[in-house]
Order: sequence, then C-alpha cells, then structure tokens
Amino acid sequence: MRIRKATLEDAKELSALRKATIRAINKHDYTPSQIARWSKRWNTVEFQLQDDPFLRYVAVQDGKIVGYADIRKKSPEEMGGLYVRKDFIQKGVGRKLMKKIEDMVRKMGVKSFLLHSSTTAKGFYEKLGYTVLSLKKNRIKGDYYILEKKLLHP
Ligand SMILES: CC(C)(COP(=O)(O)OP(=O)(O)OC[C@H]1O[C@@H](n2cnc3c(N)ncnc32)[C@H](O)[C@@H]1OP(=O)(O)O)[C@@H](O)C(=O)NCCC(=O)NCCS
Repeated sequence: MRIRKATLEDAKELSALRKATIRAINKHDYTPSQIARWSKRWNTVEFQLQDDPFLRYVAVQDGKIVGYADIRKKSPEEMGGLYVRKDFIQKGVGRKLMKKIEDMVRKMGVKSFLLHSSTTAKGFYEKLGYTVLSLKKNRIKGDYYILEKKLLHP
C-alpha cells in the first residue's frame, strides 16, 4: 500500500468510497436519516470544486484507492475527513493515513492536533493516542466526539 497526494481525477472514486463506507460502516452507530444526510454530501463535483482548500492524501493498493484523509490548508491544527474503503477496514489503512497527516501537520508547526470523531471511529483514535475532550450531541448529525493529541516535536 502506498500513500500519495490526491488528484482531481480521484474525485469520483473518493466520493463513491466515502458514501459506501458511511452506509456500510457508520450505519451501526447512526440513524437511517443521519446516515442519509451524511452520505449525501461530497459528490464528485464537490470533491473537485473543493479540492484546493484541502491537503488530501489517498492510500492506494493494487491500483485502487482504499482510503483517504485530509486537512484544510487554512486550519492544519484540525483534522478533516478520514475514510477507509468498506472492504479494507481493520487492515492498517487508517493508521497509515493518520501517520502521514500527523507527520505533515507537525512539519507545519502544529503541537496540539484536534479532531471531530464519529462514534464509530472513537476507539480507533484512542488507540492512536487521542484523548476525548468532549461529547457533542446533535439531533440532526448524531453524537460526535472532540479529541486531541499532543504531537511530539524533536
Ligand atoms: C475509523 C477508520 C478510519 C479506521 O480505519 P482502519 O483502517 O479500519 O483502522 P486500522 O486498521 O488502521 O486500525 C488501527 C488500530 O485501531 C484499531 N481500530 C480500528 N478501528 C477501530 C474501532 N472502530 N474501534 C476501536 N479500535 C479500532 C485496530 O484494531 C488497530 O489496532 P491494532 O493496531 O492494535 O491492531 C475506519 O473504520 C473508517 O473509515 N470508519 C468509517 C468512517 C469514519 O467514521 N471516519 C471517521 C470520520 S469522523
């Protein structure tokens, strides 16, 4: 598996991956209407049009994208999206993408990295050393957590 920067040509694959993962993996923790609303966003055109404000990386295996992660260039102290292809869950893709993102934001000077986590991903982030700061309850979006990790600088 290798990690590379996303390109505009990846938009269609990324949109399909995100939608399928939310519908298959996050569905266990959210209501059908929350899943429908969440998975509807970020179609192919949105991925293309909103590409520039983001630094986005993809994990590729055997020519197909098996996950992606991004941050907004303007706010590198906060994680953007992280999605692993539904049939590649629990194979180390998420960990590898997070390492890439953490290495990058560390180089940008970030010392304390924040993220919003789904209920689904909370245990994963805790495993990677993140600590829960708070739980947010949102009727429309569903519950989510704010977590933080202090990034070590040499
Ligand atoms: C959360 C997510 C990104 C994790 O990616 P992944 O590739 O499956 O995770 P990894 O295989 O790299 O797991 C790394 C470690 O975390 C553990 N882990 C993975 N998912 C976990 C979970 N949901 N709860 C607890 N631990 C988890 C793994 O067992 C592994 O531990 P180990 O190294 O001791 O074996 C993936 O499940 C996903 O895309 N979920 C749906 C989308 C989502 O909720 N994204 C977050 C947006 S807020």
